[in-house]
Amino acid sequence: MARIIAGVASSHVPAIGAAIDNKQTGEPYWQRVFSGFEKSKQWMAETKPDVAIVVYNDHASAFSVEFVPTFALGCAAEFPPADEGWGPRPVPVVKGHPELAAHIAQSVILDEFDLTIVNKMEVDHGLTVPMNLLFGSPKEWPCPVIPLAVNVVLYPPPTGHRCYMLGRAIRRAVESFPEDLKVVIFGTGGMSHQISGPRAGLINSKFDKAYLDNLTKDPKKLARMEHLEYMREAGAEGIEMVMWLVMRGALDDKVDEVYRFYTVPASNTAVGHIILENRKGAAKGKAKAKSKSTPKIKRAAARATHRDVRRGK
Ligand SMILES: [Fe+2]
Repeated sequence: MARIIAGVASSHVPAIGAAIDNKQTGEPYWQRVFSGFEKSKQWMAETKPDVAIVVYNDHASAFSVEFVPTFALGCAAEFPPADEGWGPRPVPVVKGHPELAAHIAQSVILDEFDLTIVNKMEVDHGLTVPMNLLFGSPKEWPCPVIPLAVNVVLYPPPTGHRCYMLGRAIRRAVESFPEDLKVVIFGTGGMSHQISGPRAGLINSKFDKAYLDNLTKDPKKLARMEHLEYMREAGAEGIEMVMWLVMRGALDDKVDEVYRFYTVPASNTAVGHIILENRKGAAKGKAKAKSKSTPKIKRAAARATHRDVRRGK
Protein backbone atom coordinates (compact mmCIF):
# COMPACT_ATOMS: atom_id res chain seq x y z
CA MET A 1 0.00 0.00 0.00
CA ALA A 2 1.14 3.57 -0.59
CA ARG A 3 1.59 5.73 2.49
CA ILE A 4 2.24 9.33 3.38
CA ILE A 5 5.31 9.33 5.56
CA ALA A 6 5.93 13.04 6.09
CA GLY A 7 4.77 16.56 5.42
CA VAL A 8 6.75 19.64 4.52
CA ALA A 9 5.55 23.23 4.73
CA SER A 10 7.48 25.97 3.02
CA SER A 11 6.99 29.51 1.81
CA HIS A 12 7.16 29.86 -1.96
CA VAL A 13 8.38 33.47 -2.30
CA PRO A 14 9.03 34.19 -6.02
CA ALA A 15 12.16 36.24 -5.24
CA ILE A 16 13.73 33.06 -3.80
CA GLY A 17 13.36 31.48 -7.23
CA ALA A 18 14.88 34.57 -8.87
CA ALA A 19 17.82 34.45 -6.43
CA ILE A 20 18.46 30.82 -7.44
CA ASP A 21 18.06 31.51 -11.15
CA ASN A 22 20.33 34.58 -11.01
CA LYS A 23 22.94 32.78 -8.89
CA GLN A 24 22.59 35.13 -5.92
CA THR A 25 22.22 32.47 -3.24
CA GLY A 26 25.67 33.27 -1.82
CA GLU A 27 24.88 36.96 -1.22
CA PRO A 28 24.54 37.73 2.53
CA TYR A 29 20.83 38.66 2.23
CA TRP A 30 19.99 35.38 0.52
CA GLN A 31 22.49 33.21 2.37
CA ARG A 32 20.44 33.80 5.54
CA VAL A 33 17.41 32.30 3.76
CA PHE A 34 19.08 29.44 1.93
CA SER A 35 21.19 28.30 4.89
CA GLY A 36 17.92 27.42 6.64
CA PHE A 37 17.17 24.78 4.01
CA GLU A 38 20.51 22.93 4.02
CA LYS A 39 19.31 20.41 6.62
CA SER A 40 16.02 20.06 4.77
CA LYS A 41 17.78 19.08 1.55
CA GLN A 42 19.77 16.53 3.49
CA TRP A 43 16.57 15.17 5.07
CA MET A 44 14.91 14.92 1.66
CA ALA A 45 17.93 13.18 0.12
CA GLU A 46 17.81 10.59 2.92
CA THR A 47 14.00 10.25 2.84
CA LYS A 48 13.91 9.61 -0.93
CA PRO A 49 10.15 9.76 -1.51
CA ASP A 50 8.72 7.86 -4.46
CA VAL A 51 6.16 10.61 -5.08
CA ALA A 52 5.58 14.15 -3.81
CA ILE A 53 2.15 15.76 -3.63
CA VAL A 54 2.66 19.52 -3.75
CA VAL A 55 -0.19 21.73 -2.53
CA TYR A 56 0.34 25.24 -3.88
CA ASN A 57 -1.46 28.09 -5.56
CA ASP A 58 -1.20 29.30 -9.09
CA HIS A 59 -0.47 33.02 -9.50
CA ALA A 60 -2.43 33.72 -12.68
CA SER A 61 0.06 31.60 -14.64
CA ALA A 62 -1.98 28.51 -15.49
CA PHE A 63 -5.45 29.86 -14.67
CA SER A 64 -6.96 33.14 -15.77
CA VAL A 65 -7.97 35.32 -12.82
CA GLU A 66 -11.45 35.45 -14.32
CA PHE A 67 -12.13 32.08 -12.72
CA VAL A 68 -9.98 29.83 -10.56
CA PRO A 69 -10.92 26.30 -9.50
CA THR A 70 -11.01 25.83 -5.72
CA PHE A 71 -9.04 22.58 -5.87
CA ALA A 72 -7.35 21.48 -9.11
CA LEU A 73 -5.45 18.21 -9.24
CA GLY A 74 -2.76 17.76 -11.87
CA CYS A 75 -3.29 14.37 -13.50
CA ALA A 76 -0.97 14.92 -16.48
CA ALA A 77 2.26 13.08 -17.24
CA GLU A 78 4.24 16.31 -17.09
CA PHE A 79 3.93 19.95 -16.09
CA PRO A 80 6.23 22.47 -17.80
CA PRO A 81 7.41 25.60 -15.94
CA ALA A 82 5.14 28.58 -16.58
CA ASP A 83 6.04 31.90 -18.09
CA GLU A 84 5.61 34.31 -15.17
CA GLY A 85 6.45 37.47 -17.06
CA TRP A 86 10.24 37.02 -17.13
CA GLY A 87 10.02 33.79 -19.10
CA PRO A 88 9.69 30.29 -17.65
CA ARG A 89 12.05 29.55 -14.74
CA PRO A 90 15.04 27.45 -15.87
CA VAL A 91 13.96 24.41 -13.87
CA PRO A 92 13.30 20.87 -15.08
CA VAL A 93 9.87 19.89 -16.37
CA VAL A 94 7.91 18.39 -13.48
CA LYS A 95 6.98 14.78 -14.19
CA GLY A 96 3.61 13.69 -12.86
CA HIS A 97 2.24 10.39 -11.59
CA PRO A 98 -1.00 10.04 -13.58
CA GLU A 99 -1.96 6.68 -12.04
CA LEU A 100 -1.79 7.82 -8.43
CA ALA A 101 -3.26 11.23 -9.33
CA ALA A 102 -6.27 9.61 -11.05
CA HIS A 103 -6.72 7.30 -8.08
CA ILE A 104 -6.66 10.25 -5.67
CA ALA A 105 -9.13 12.15 -7.84
CA GLN A 106 -11.56 9.24 -7.89
CA SER A 107 -11.23 8.54 -4.18
CA VAL A 108 -11.61 12.11 -2.91
CA ILE A 109 -14.55 12.78 -5.24
CA LEU A 110 -16.29 9.74 -3.75
CA ASP A 111 -15.31 11.24 -0.39
CA GLU A 112 -17.36 14.41 -1.18
CA PHE A 113 -14.55 16.68 -2.47
CA ASP A 114 -15.29 17.97 -5.96
CA LEU A 115 -11.87 18.44 -7.46
CA THR A 116 -11.21 19.88 -10.87
CA ILE A 117 -9.11 17.41 -12.82
CA VAL A 118 -6.44 19.10 -14.92
CA ASN A 119 -4.82 17.18 -17.76
CA LYS A 120 -2.69 20.03 -19.09
CA MET A 121 -1.12 22.61 -16.81
CA GLU A 122 1.99 24.72 -16.39
CA VAL A 123 3.37 25.25 -12.89
CA ASP A 124 4.78 28.49 -11.50
CA HIS A 125 6.99 29.50 -8.55
CA GLY A 126 4.28 28.41 -6.11
CA LEU A 127 5.33 24.85 -6.88
CA THR A 128 8.87 25.14 -8.21
CA VAL A 129 10.40 27.30 -5.44
CA PRO A 130 9.63 24.79 -2.64
CA MET A 131 10.93 22.04 -4.97
CA ASN A 132 14.25 23.90 -5.25
CA LEU A 133 14.41 24.51 -1.51
CA LEU A 134 13.95 20.83 -0.70
CA PHE A 135 15.50 19.08 -3.71
CA GLY A 136 18.13 21.64 -4.74
CA SER A 137 18.66 22.36 -8.42
CA PRO A 138 19.11 18.99 -10.13
CA LYS A 139 18.96 18.38 -13.89
CA GLU A 140 15.84 16.25 -13.35
CA TRP A 141 13.57 16.29 -10.29
CA PRO A 142 14.26 13.10 -8.33
CA CYS A 143 10.62 11.95 -8.05
CA PRO A 144 7.27 12.39 -9.76
CA VAL A 145 5.05 15.17 -8.45
CA ILE A 146 1.28 15.49 -8.19
CA PRO A 147 0.36 19.20 -8.14
CA LEU A 148 -2.72 20.24 -6.19
CA ALA A 149 -3.56 23.88 -6.93
CA VAL A 150 -5.74 25.63 -4.35
CA ASN A 151 -7.56 28.90 -4.96
CA VAL A 152 -6.26 31.44 -2.45
CA VAL A 153 -6.26 34.35 -4.88
CA LEU A 154 -9.94 34.98 -5.68
CA TYR A 155 -12.86 35.09 -3.28
CA PRO A 156 -13.94 32.65 -2.01
CA PRO A 157 -10.91 30.63 -0.94
CA PRO A 158 -11.64 27.37 0.89
CA THR A 159 -11.74 27.41 4.69
CA GLY A 160 -8.85 26.00 6.66
CA HIS A 161 -11.22 23.32 7.90
CA ARG A 162 -12.10 22.24 4.38
CA CYS A 163 -8.40 22.11 3.50
CA TYR A 164 -7.70 20.03 6.60
CA MET A 165 -10.48 17.59 5.73
CA LEU A 166 -9.25 17.37 2.13
CA GLY A 167 -5.90 16.34 3.56
CA ARG A 168 -7.68 13.58 5.47
CA ALA A 169 -9.37 12.45 2.25
CA ILE A 170 -6.07 12.49 0.35
CA ARG A 171 -4.53 10.31 3.01
CA ARG A 172 -7.35 7.77 2.67
CA ALA A 173 -6.89 7.87 -1.09
CA VAL A 174 -3.14 7.30 -0.93
CA GLU A 175 -3.54 4.43 1.55
CA SER A 176 -5.94 2.65 -0.78
CA PHE A 177 -3.48 2.75 -3.70
CA PRO A 178 -2.11 -0.78 -4.05
CA GLU A 179 1.46 0.03 -5.07
CA ASP A 180 4.03 0.32 -2.28
CA LEU A 181 4.98 4.00 -2.50
CA LYS A 182 6.50 6.43 -0.01
CA VAL A 183 4.75 9.76 -0.40
CA VAL A 184 5.74 13.16 0.99
CA ILE A 185 3.17 15.94 0.91
CA PHE A 186 4.06 19.65 0.69
CA GLY A 187 1.98 22.59 1.89
CA THR A 188 3.32 25.81 0.41
CA GLY A 189 2.82 29.57 0.65
CA GLY A 190 2.79 31.97 3.58
CA MET A 191 3.82 32.98 6.06
CA SER A 192 2.59 36.47 7.01
CA HIS A 193 2.78 38.88 4.10
CA GLN A 194 0.81 41.51 2.28
CA ILE A 195 1.92 42.72 -1.13
CA SER A 196 -0.31 45.76 -1.66
CA GLY A 197 -2.47 48.36 0.08
CA PRO A 198 -1.75 50.42 3.19
CA ARG A 199 -0.46 47.40 5.12
CA ALA A 200 1.95 46.25 2.37
CA GLY A 201 5.04 44.70 3.93
CA LEU A 202 3.15 43.46 7.00
CA ILE A 203 4.99 40.70 8.89
CA ASN A 204 3.68 39.22 12.14
CA SER A 205 6.35 36.94 13.58
CA LYS A 206 4.40 36.26 16.77
CA PHE A 207 1.45 34.94 14.77
CA ASP A 208 3.71 32.95 12.43
CA LYS A 209 5.58 31.21 15.25
CA ALA A 210 2.35 30.33 17.06
CA TYR A 211 1.03 28.96 13.76
CA LEU A 212 4.09 26.72 13.41
CA ASP A 213 3.66 25.53 17.02
CA ASN A 214 0.02 24.66 16.44
CA LEU A 215 0.70 23.05 13.09
CA THR A 216 2.63 20.42 15.00
CA LYS A 217 0.63 20.20 18.21
CA ASP A 218 -2.90 21.42 17.64
CA PRO A 219 -3.81 21.58 13.93
CA LYS A 220 -7.52 21.33 14.71
CA LYS A 221 -7.26 24.73 16.39
CA LEU A 222 -5.82 26.15 13.16
CA ALA A 223 -8.55 24.43 11.16
CA ARG A 224 -11.11 26.53 13.05
CA MET A 225 -9.39 29.84 12.22
CA GLU A 226 -11.51 32.03 9.97
CA HIS A 227 -10.42 33.87 6.84
CA LEU A 228 -10.66 37.25 8.54
CA GLU A 229 -8.24 36.22 11.26
CA TYR A 230 -5.66 35.19 8.64
CA MET A 231 -6.09 38.52 6.90
CA ARG A 232 -6.01 40.59 10.06
CA GLU A 233 -3.04 38.81 11.64
CA ALA A 234 -1.04 37.59 8.65
CA GLY A 235 -1.94 40.06 5.89
CA ALA A 236 -4.03 39.59 2.76
CA GLU A 237 -1.68 36.98 1.30
CA GLY A 238 -1.32 35.20 4.64
CA ILE A 239 -4.44 33.27 3.62
CA GLU A 240 -2.05 31.05 1.62
CA MET A 241 -1.41 29.24 4.90
CA VAL A 242 -4.70 27.34 4.63
CA MET A 243 -2.79 25.21 2.12
CA TRP A 244 -0.52 24.02 4.92
CA LEU A 245 -3.60 22.46 6.51
CA VAL A 246 -4.11 20.14 3.52
CA MET A 247 -0.63 18.81 4.27
CA ARG A 248 -1.28 18.59 8.00
CA GLY A 249 -4.63 16.85 7.53
CA ALA A 250 -2.88 14.14 5.54
CA LEU A 251 -0.64 13.27 8.50
CA ASP A 252 -1.27 11.49 11.79
CA ASP A 253 -2.78 13.49 14.65
CA LYS A 254 0.50 13.15 16.53
CA VAL A 255 3.62 13.83 14.52
CA ASP A 256 7.28 14.41 15.18
CA GLU A 257 8.56 17.84 14.25
CA VAL A 258 11.97 17.04 12.84
CA TYR A 259 12.96 20.50 11.63
CA ARG A 260 11.82 24.11 11.66
CA PHE A 261 13.19 27.31 10.17
CA TYR A 262 11.88 30.86 10.28
CA THR A 263 13.44 34.07 9.03
CA VAL A 264 12.34 37.57 8.07
CA PRO A 265 12.27 39.14 5.65
CA ALA A 266 12.65 37.68 2.19
CA SER A 267 11.28 40.16 -0.28
CA ASN A 268 8.79 41.61 2.26
CA THR A 269 7.65 38.13 3.28
CA ALA A 270 8.19 36.01 6.36
CA VAL A 271 9.76 32.69 5.39
CA GLY A 272 8.57 29.70 7.39
CA HIS A 273 9.41 26.05 6.98
CA ILE A 274 8.70 22.89 8.93
CA ILE A 275 9.15 19.16 8.44
CA LEU A 276 6.75 16.78 10.20
CA GLU A 277 7.04 13.01 10.19
CA ASN A 278 4.43 10.41 10.97
CA ARG A 279 5.57 8.20 13.82
CA LYS A 280 6.76 4.92 12.37
CA GLY A 281 5.04 2.53 14.80
CA ALA A 282 1.76 4.44 14.57
CA ALA A 283 1.39 3.76 10.85
CA LYS A 284 1.79 0.01 11.36
CA GLY A 285 -0.80 -0.10 14.13
CA LYS A 286 -3.23 1.88 12.02
CA ALA A 287 -2.76 -0.37 9.00
CA LYS A 288 -3.58 -3.41 11.15
CA ALA A 289 -6.69 -1.82 12.61
CA LYS A 290 -7.69 -0.68 9.14
CA SER A 291 -7.58 -4.15 7.64
CA LYS A 292 -10.30 -5.18 10.09
CA SER A 293 -12.59 -2.25 9.38
CA THR A 294 -15.14 -2.09 6.57
CA PRO A 295 -15.30 0.86 4.16
CA LYS A 296 -18.66 1.80 5.72
CA ILE A 297 -17.11 2.09 9.18
CA LYS A 298 -14.21 4.09 7.76
CA ARG A 299 -16.61 6.59 6.18
CA ALA A 300 -18.49 6.91 9.48
CA ALA A 301 -15.23 7.56 11.33
CA ALA A 302 -14.27 10.20 8.78
CA ARG A 303 -17.63 11.93 9.21
CA ALA A 304 -17.20 11.86 13.00
CA THR A 305 -13.79 13.54 12.71
CA HIS A 306 -15.35 16.12 10.37
CA ARG A 307 -18.02 16.92 12.99
CA ASP A 308 -15.49 16.99 15.84
CA VAL A 309 -13.35 19.60 14.12
CA ARG A 310 -16.36 21.79 13.33
CA ARG A 311 -17.52 21.59 16.91
CA GLY A 312 -14.09 22.50 18.15
CA LYS A 313 -13.21 19.15 19.77
FE1 LIG B 1 1.98 32.76 -3.41
